[in-house]
Amino acid sequence: MSNNPGRARLKGCCALVTGGAGFIGSHLVDRLLDEGARSVVVVDNLFLGELDNLHDALVRGAVLYREDAEFMPSLEYIFAAHQVDVVFNCATKALNYSFMNPMNAFDTNTRVVLNLLELQRKGVFKTLCHFSTSEVYGTAVYEPMDEAHPKNPTTAYAAGKAAADLAVESYVRMFDLDAFIVRPFNNYGPRQNDAGPLAGVIPVTARRILEGRAPEIHGTGTQSRDFIYVQDTVDAVLKCHGVLPAGESVNISAENCIEIATLIGMVAESLGYAGAIERKPGRGSDVACHNATSAKLRSLCGFQCTPFAQGLEQTLAWYRARRSGEAR
Ligand SMILES: NC(=O)c1ccc[n+]([C@@H]2O[C@H](COP(=O)([O-])OP(=O)(O)OC[C@H]3O[C@@H](n4cnc5c(N)ncnc54)[C@H](O)[C@@H]3O)[C@@H](O)[C@H]2O)c1
Repeated sequence: MSNNPGRARLKGCCALVTGGAGFIGSHLVDRLLDEGARSVVVVDNLFLGELDNLHDALVRGAVLYREDAEFMPSLEYIFAAHQVDVVFNCATKALNYSFMNPMNAFDTNTRVVLNLLELQRKGVFKTLCHFSTSEVYGTAVYEPMDEAHPKNPTTAYAAGKAAADLAVESYVRMFDLDAFIVRPFNNYGPRQNDAGPLAGVIPVTARRILEGRAPEIHGTGTQSRDFIYVQDTVDAVLKCHGVLPAGESVNISAENCIEIATLIGMVAESLGYAGAIERKPGRGSDVACHNATSAKLRSLCGFQCTPFAQGLEQTLAWYRARRSGEAR
Protein backbone atom coordinates (compact mmCIF):
# COMPACT_ATOMS: atom_id res chain seq x y z
CA MET A 1 0.00 0.00 0.00
CA SER A 2 2.88 2.41 -0.53
CA ASN A 3 3.14 5.13 -3.18
CA ASN A 4 6.34 6.10 -1.42
CA PRO A 5 8.61 3.10 -1.21
CA GLY A 6 11.48 5.41 -0.25
CA ARG A 7 9.73 6.68 2.91
CA ALA A 8 11.03 5.06 6.11
CA ARG A 9 8.61 2.59 7.70
CA LEU A 10 7.22 3.67 11.06
CA LYS A 11 8.21 0.37 12.65
CA GLY A 12 11.79 0.82 13.82
CA CYS A 13 11.95 4.55 12.97
CA CYS A 14 12.76 7.51 15.17
CA ALA A 15 9.79 9.90 15.15
CA LEU A 16 9.72 13.41 16.57
CA VAL A 17 6.38 15.01 17.43
CA THR A 18 6.19 18.76 18.03
CA GLY A 19 3.22 19.58 20.25
CA GLY A 20 3.23 15.93 21.35
CA ALA A 21 1.94 16.70 24.85
CA GLY A 22 -1.24 18.18 23.37
CA PHE A 23 -4.55 16.59 22.45
CA ILE A 24 -3.93 15.01 19.02
CA GLY A 25 -0.14 14.87 19.44
CA SER A 26 -0.29 12.73 22.58
CA HIS A 27 -2.59 10.17 20.91
CA LEU A 28 -0.20 10.14 17.95
CA VAL A 29 2.74 9.49 20.30
CA ASP A 30 0.89 6.51 21.83
CA ARG A 31 0.14 5.10 18.37
CA LEU A 32 3.73 5.52 17.17
CA LEU A 33 4.86 3.47 20.16
CA ASP A 34 2.17 0.86 19.36
CA GLU A 35 3.46 0.72 15.77
CA GLY A 36 6.93 -0.18 17.02
CA ALA A 37 8.79 3.10 16.50
CA ARG A 38 12.37 2.70 17.72
CA SER A 39 12.11 5.99 19.61
CA VAL A 40 9.58 8.77 19.96
CA VAL A 41 10.80 12.25 20.82
CA VAL A 42 8.36 14.97 21.92
CA VAL A 43 9.08 18.70 21.75
CA ASP A 44 6.43 20.67 23.63
CA ASN A 45 6.67 23.88 25.65
CA LEU A 46 3.53 22.88 27.60
CA PHE A 47 1.75 26.06 26.51
CA LEU A 48 -1.43 23.99 26.48
CA GLY A 49 -0.13 20.41 26.51
CA GLU A 50 -0.03 18.45 29.75
CA LEU A 51 2.43 15.99 31.22
CA ASP A 52 -0.51 13.76 32.17
CA ASN A 53 -1.28 13.24 28.46
CA LEU A 54 2.13 11.59 28.10
CA HIS A 55 2.05 9.57 31.31
CA ASP A 56 1.90 6.16 29.62
CA ALA A 57 4.13 7.19 26.70
CA LEU A 58 6.93 8.33 29.03
CA VAL A 59 6.70 5.04 30.93
CA ARG A 60 7.02 3.28 27.54
CA GLY A 61 10.22 5.17 26.69
CA ALA A 62 9.13 8.31 24.86
CA VAL A 63 11.44 11.26 25.51
CA LEU A 64 10.04 14.72 26.29
CA TYR A 65 11.87 17.99 25.70
CA ARG A 66 10.03 20.84 27.39
CA GLU A 67 11.28 23.28 24.77
CA ASP A 68 9.96 25.92 22.40
CA ALA A 69 9.97 24.73 18.78
CA GLU A 70 9.89 28.35 17.61
CA PHE A 71 13.45 28.64 18.89
CA MET A 72 15.89 27.15 16.35
CA PRO A 73 18.81 26.56 18.77
CA SER A 74 16.52 24.35 20.87
CA LEU A 75 15.57 22.27 17.86
CA GLU A 76 19.20 22.07 16.75
CA TYR A 77 20.44 20.49 19.96
CA ILE A 78 17.47 18.09 20.12
CA PHE A 79 17.97 16.92 16.53
CA ALA A 80 21.71 16.57 17.19
CA ALA A 81 20.88 14.13 20.00
CA HIS A 82 18.56 11.88 17.93
CA GLN A 83 18.75 10.40 14.42
CA VAL A 84 15.22 11.49 13.51
CA ASP A 85 13.57 9.89 10.46
CA VAL A 86 10.15 11.54 10.49
CA VAL A 87 8.69 14.66 12.10
CA PHE A 88 4.99 15.15 12.84
CA ASN A 89 4.37 18.87 13.33
CA CYS A 90 1.43 19.24 15.73
CA ALA A 91 2.63 22.32 17.64
CA THR A 92 0.15 25.18 17.62
CA LYS A 93 -1.50 27.74 19.86
CA ALA A 94 -5.26 27.19 20.01
CA LEU A 95 -7.57 29.10 17.67
CA ASN A 96 -9.21 30.97 20.58
CA TYR A 97 -5.79 32.26 21.61
CA SER A 98 -5.53 34.15 18.33
CA PHE A 99 -8.37 36.42 19.50
CA MET A 100 -6.19 37.47 22.47
CA ASN A 101 -2.72 37.41 20.89
CA PRO A 102 -3.11 37.19 17.11
CA MET A 103 0.50 37.98 16.33
CA ASN A 104 1.97 35.20 18.44
CA ALA A 105 -0.67 32.70 17.25
CA PHE A 106 0.34 33.49 13.66
CA ASP A 107 4.05 33.39 14.59
CA THR A 108 3.84 29.96 16.24
CA ASN A 109 1.96 28.49 13.31
CA THR A 110 4.55 29.73 10.82
CA ARG A 111 7.84 29.84 12.75
CA VAL A 112 7.78 26.22 13.92
CA VAL A 113 7.23 24.83 10.42
CA LEU A 114 9.82 27.16 8.89
CA ASN A 115 12.38 25.97 11.46
CA LEU A 116 11.56 22.37 10.59
CA LEU A 117 11.72 22.98 6.83
CA GLU A 118 15.12 24.63 7.20
CA LEU A 119 16.42 21.63 9.17
CA GLN A 120 14.92 19.22 6.65
CA ARG A 121 16.49 21.14 3.75
CA LYS A 122 19.88 20.67 5.44
CA GLY A 123 19.30 16.91 5.60
CA VAL A 124 18.75 16.72 9.37
CA PHE A 125 15.69 14.45 8.94
CA LYS A 126 13.94 12.78 6.00
CA THR A 127 10.15 13.16 6.15
CA LEU A 128 7.81 15.89 7.42
CA CYS A 129 4.12 15.36 8.11
CA HIS A 130 2.67 18.80 8.71
CA PHE A 131 -0.71 19.29 10.45
CA SER A 132 -2.88 21.88 8.71
CA THR A 133 -6.50 22.56 9.69
CA SER A 134 -9.93 22.88 8.09
CA GLU A 135 -9.88 26.46 9.42
CA VAL A 136 -7.66 27.45 6.45
CA TYR A 137 -10.74 27.07 4.20
CA GLY A 138 -12.94 29.54 6.11
CA THR A 139 -16.70 29.19 5.58
CA ALA A 140 -17.64 26.73 2.84
CA VAL A 141 -18.11 28.40 -0.56
CA TYR A 142 -19.16 25.00 -1.91
CA GLU A 143 -20.03 21.74 -0.22
CA PRO A 144 -18.75 19.23 0.47
CA MET A 145 -15.34 20.90 0.80
CA ASP A 146 -12.52 19.07 -0.94
CA GLU A 147 -8.78 19.82 -1.04
CA ALA A 148 -9.28 22.25 -3.95
CA HIS A 149 -11.59 24.46 -1.84
CA PRO A 150 -10.26 28.06 -1.76
CA LYS A 151 -8.35 29.07 1.34
CA ASN A 152 -10.11 31.98 3.04
CA PRO A 153 -8.79 32.08 6.60
CA THR A 154 -10.99 34.17 8.91
CA THR A 155 -8.67 34.27 11.95
CA ALA A 156 -4.98 34.99 12.57
CA TYR A 157 -4.70 31.35 13.69
CA ALA A 158 -5.99 30.12 10.34
CA ALA A 159 -3.93 32.69 8.41
CA GLY A 160 -0.80 31.33 10.08
CA LYS A 161 -1.84 27.76 9.27
CA ALA A 162 -2.54 28.69 5.62
CA ALA A 163 0.85 30.41 5.36
CA ALA A 164 2.47 27.30 6.84
CA ASP A 165 0.81 25.14 4.17
CA LEU A 166 2.19 27.41 1.44
CA ALA A 167 5.64 27.25 3.03
CA VAL A 168 5.58 23.42 3.01
CA GLU A 169 4.40 23.33 -0.62
CA SER A 170 7.04 25.84 -1.74
CA TYR A 171 9.92 24.03 0.02
CA VAL A 172 8.85 20.75 -1.58
CA ARG A 173 8.93 22.40 -5.02
CA MET A 174 12.21 24.23 -4.45
CA PHE A 175 14.21 21.59 -2.60
CA ASP A 176 12.44 18.33 -3.47
CA LEU A 177 11.72 17.60 0.21
CA ASP A 178 9.62 14.67 1.37
CA ALA A 179 6.91 16.69 3.12
CA PHE A 180 3.13 16.28 3.04
CA ILE A 181 0.14 17.96 4.67
CA VAL A 182 -2.71 16.36 6.62
CA ARG A 183 -5.74 18.60 7.15
CA PRO A 184 -8.03 17.44 9.96
CA PHE A 185 -11.48 18.89 10.54
CA ASN A 186 -12.76 19.37 14.13
CA ASN A 187 -11.42 16.69 16.44
CA TYR A 188 -12.98 15.48 19.65
CA GLY A 189 -12.05 12.78 22.14
CA PRO A 190 -10.22 12.11 25.41
CA ARG A 191 -7.52 14.60 26.51
CA GLN A 192 -8.93 17.61 24.63
CA ASN A 193 -8.39 20.66 26.83
CA ASP A 194 -11.58 21.53 28.74
CA ALA A 195 -10.36 24.41 30.91
CA GLY A 196 -10.24 28.16 30.40
CA PRO A 197 -10.83 30.29 27.34
CA LEU A 198 -8.93 28.02 24.91
CA ALA A 199 -11.23 25.00 25.35
CA GLY A 200 -13.26 23.55 22.45
CA VAL A 201 -17.04 23.22 22.34
CA ILE A 202 -17.45 19.56 23.36
CA PRO A 203 -15.10 19.61 26.36
CA VAL A 204 -16.30 23.00 27.57
CA THR A 205 -19.95 21.92 27.37
CA ALA A 206 -19.22 18.64 29.19
CA ARG A 207 -17.26 20.45 31.88
CA ARG A 208 -19.99 23.03 32.51
CA ILE A 209 -22.65 20.34 32.83
CA LEU A 210 -20.48 18.11 35.05
CA GLU A 211 -19.82 21.13 37.29
CA GLY A 212 -23.57 21.83 37.54
CA ARG A 213 -23.49 24.93 35.29
CA ALA A 214 -25.66 25.62 32.25
CA PRO A 215 -24.08 24.98 28.85
CA GLU A 216 -23.77 27.93 26.45
CA ILE A 217 -24.52 28.44 22.78
CA HIS A 218 -22.59 31.28 21.17
CA GLY A 219 -24.40 32.97 18.29
CA THR A 220 -27.28 31.30 16.47
CA GLY A 221 -26.09 27.73 17.09
CA THR A 222 -26.64 27.02 13.39
CA GLN A 223 -22.91 27.17 12.67
CA SER A 224 -21.80 23.67 11.69
CA ARG A 225 -18.62 21.64 11.97
CA ASP A 226 -17.43 18.27 10.72
CA PHE A 227 -16.44 16.30 13.84
CA ILE A 228 -13.96 13.43 13.81
CA TYR A 229 -12.86 11.17 16.67
CA VAL A 230 -9.21 11.76 17.55
CA GLN A 231 -8.18 8.10 17.21
CA ASP A 232 -9.58 8.11 13.67
CA THR A 233 -7.47 11.16 12.82
CA VAL A 234 -4.33 9.49 14.13
CA ASP A 235 -5.17 6.33 12.21
CA ALA A 236 -5.62 8.35 9.01
CA VAL A 237 -2.35 10.25 9.53
CA LEU A 238 -0.35 7.05 9.93
CA LYS A 239 -2.00 5.54 6.85
CA CYS A 240 -1.22 8.72 4.87
CA HIS A 241 2.41 8.43 5.87
CA GLY A 242 2.53 5.27 3.79
CA VAL A 243 0.74 6.55 0.71
CA LEU A 244 0.46 10.33 0.34
CA PRO A 245 2.95 11.74 -2.18
CA ALA A 246 5.23 14.61 -1.17
CA GLY A 247 3.74 18.07 -1.71
CA GLU A 248 0.13 16.87 -1.44
CA SER A 249 -2.48 17.60 1.20
CA VAL A 250 -5.46 15.54 2.31
CA ASN A 251 -8.63 16.30 4.28
CA ILE A 252 -9.27 14.14 7.32
CA SER A 253 -12.96 14.27 8.17
CA ALA A 254 -15.81 12.00 9.18
CA GLU A 255 -18.14 13.65 6.64
CA ASN A 256 -20.69 14.63 9.23
CA CYS A 257 -21.92 18.21 9.35
CA ILE A 258 -23.33 18.90 12.79
CA GLU A 259 -24.84 22.19 13.94
CA ILE A 260 -23.48 23.45 17.26
CA ALA A 261 -26.95 23.68 18.87
CA THR A 262 -27.61 20.04 17.92
CA LEU A 263 -24.24 19.02 19.28
CA ILE A 264 -24.80 20.76 22.61
CA GLY A 265 -28.21 19.07 22.85
CA MET A 266 -26.55 15.67 22.31
CA VAL A 267 -23.94 16.32 25.01
CA ALA A 268 -26.64 17.52 27.42
CA GLU A 269 -28.84 14.49 26.76
CA SER A 270 -25.97 12.05 27.15
CA LEU A 271 -25.00 13.62 30.49
CA GLY A 272 -28.63 13.61 31.68
CA TYR A 273 -28.90 17.41 31.73
CA ALA A 274 -32.40 18.78 31.15
CA GLY A 275 -31.88 22.38 32.33
CA ALA A 276 -31.59 25.67 30.48
CA ILE A 277 -29.06 26.40 27.74
CA GLU A 278 -27.67 29.93 27.93
CA ARG A 279 -27.46 32.08 24.81
CA LYS A 280 -24.35 34.22 24.31
CA PRO A 281 -23.35 36.61 21.51
CA GLY A 282 -21.57 35.04 18.55
CA ARG A 283 -17.84 35.40 18.11
CA GLY A 284 -16.72 37.69 15.29
CA SER A 285 -15.26 35.86 12.29
CA ASP A 286 -16.54 32.45 13.40
CA VAL A 287 -16.66 30.05 10.44
CA ALA A 288 -20.34 29.43 9.54
CA CYS A 289 -20.20 26.03 7.85
CA HIS A 290 -17.79 23.14 7.51
CA ASN A 291 -18.96 20.15 5.54
CA ALA A 292 -16.07 18.14 4.18
CA THR A 293 -15.43 15.31 1.80
CA SER A 294 -12.70 12.84 2.63
CA ALA A 295 -13.03 11.09 -0.74
CA LYS A 296 -9.32 11.55 -1.41
CA LEU A 297 -8.39 9.99 1.94
CA ARG A 298 -10.72 7.04 1.33
CA SER A 299 -9.33 6.50 -2.15
CA LEU A 300 -5.79 6.47 -0.74
CA CYS A 301 -6.24 4.15 2.20
CA GLY A 302 -9.75 2.75 2.69
CA PHE A 303 -10.38 4.91 5.74
CA GLN A 304 -13.31 4.23 8.13
CA CYS A 305 -14.61 6.33 11.03
CA THR A 306 -16.08 5.79 14.47
CA PRO A 307 -19.81 6.71 14.37
CA PHE A 308 -20.28 10.13 16.02
CA ALA A 309 -22.70 8.92 18.72
CA GLN A 310 -20.24 6.20 19.75
CA GLY A 311 -17.21 8.53 19.77
CA LEU A 312 -19.16 11.11 21.78
CA GLU A 313 -20.16 8.48 24.39
CA GLN A 314 -16.52 7.36 24.71
CA THR A 315 -15.40 10.97 25.06
CA LEU A 316 -17.96 11.89 27.70
CA ALA A 317 -17.20 8.68 29.62
CA TRP A 318 -13.56 9.77 29.71
CA TYR A 319 -14.39 13.26 31.08
CA ARG A 320 -16.64 11.68 33.72
CA ALA A 321 -13.93 9.17 34.70
CA ARG A 322 -11.30 11.90 34.85
CA ARG A 323 -13.45 13.94 37.23
CA SER A 324 -13.60 10.95 39.55
CA GLY A 325 -9.83 10.42 39.19
CA GLU A 326 -10.13 7.20 37.19
CA ALA A 327 -8.76 8.33 33.82
CA ARG A 328 -5.87 10.25 32.35
N1 LIG B 1 -8.09 19.84 17.61
C1 LIG B 1 -8.65 20.04 16.44
O1 LIG B 1 -9.87 20.00 16.30
C2 LIG B 1 -7.80 20.28 15.21
C3 LIG B 1 -8.46 20.39 13.97
C4 LIG B 1 -7.68 20.59 12.84
C5 LIG B 1 -6.31 20.71 12.92
N2 LIG B 1 -5.71 20.61 14.12
C6 LIG B 1 -4.25 20.74 14.16
O2 LIG B 1 -3.71 19.59 14.78
C7 LIG B 1 -2.53 19.96 15.51
C8 LIG B 1 -2.69 19.54 16.97
O3 LIG B 1 -3.81 20.23 17.52
P1 LIG B 1 -4.33 19.92 18.99
O4 LIG B 1 -5.80 20.04 18.97
O5 LIG B 1 -3.72 18.69 19.50
O6 LIG B 1 -3.77 21.19 19.76
P2 LIG B 1 -3.22 21.29 21.26
O7 LIG B 1 -3.26 22.74 21.61
O8 LIG B 1 -3.87 20.33 22.16
O9 LIG B 1 -1.70 20.83 21.06
C9 LIG B 1 -0.73 21.69 20.55
C10 LIG B 1 0.51 21.52 21.38
O10 LIG B 1 1.52 22.40 20.91
C11 LIG B 1 2.24 22.88 22.03
N3 LIG B 1 2.93 24.10 21.64
C12 LIG B 1 2.42 25.34 21.40
N4 LIG B 1 3.38 26.19 21.03
C13 LIG B 1 4.53 25.48 21.01
C14 LIG B 1 5.88 25.80 20.72
N5 LIG B 1 6.22 27.05 20.34
N6 LIG B 1 6.82 24.85 20.83
C15 LIG B 1 6.49 23.59 21.24
N7 LIG B 1 5.22 23.23 21.52
C16 LIG B 1 4.26 24.16 21.41
C17 LIG B 1 1.19 23.06 23.10
O11 LIG B 1 1.71 23.08 24.41
C18 LIG B 1 0.31 21.85 22.85
O12 LIG B 1 0.71 20.75 23.64
C19 LIG B 1 -2.37 21.46 15.34
O13 LIG B 1 -1.49 21.71 14.28
C20 LIG B 1 -3.76 21.94 14.96
O14 LIG B 1 -3.72 23.11 14.17
C21 LIG B 1 -6.42 20.41 15.28
